[in-house]
Amino acid sequence: MSEDNFVPALDEAELKDGSMKLVHVAGKDILLTRVGNQVFGVSNICPCKGCLLSKGKIAGYIVTCPCHGWEFDVRTGQYLKTKEKRLMTYRGEIKDGKVYVEVF
Ligand code: FES
Repeated sequence: MSEDNFVPALDEAELKDGSMKLVHVAGKDILLTRVGNQVFGVSNICPCKGCLLSKGKIAGYIVTCPCHGWEFDVRTGQYLKTKEKRLMTYRGEIKDGKVYVEVF
């Protein structure tokens, strides 16, 4: 993918280490999480019953849905219990004080 697909989403200071933030870029709701200087983006809708993951919790690389506790790895989007369910993933990066996310 070309670097052209990365668009600015936030100032770096708005996404603290260990936190998550919902952004709306290129017509998509993307949940960004940060672990150190790594940024990961996933879709915000839980594939269980459609709850918003942005209202859940993040711990390390794992986001937990607030409704029924499904857990997903933000690095891969994978639901931890079965391989059949997963979130869309979006690459993120921090550059020049901004958080960028790759949209396609
Ligand atoms: S809606 Fe997310 S776990 Fe059920």
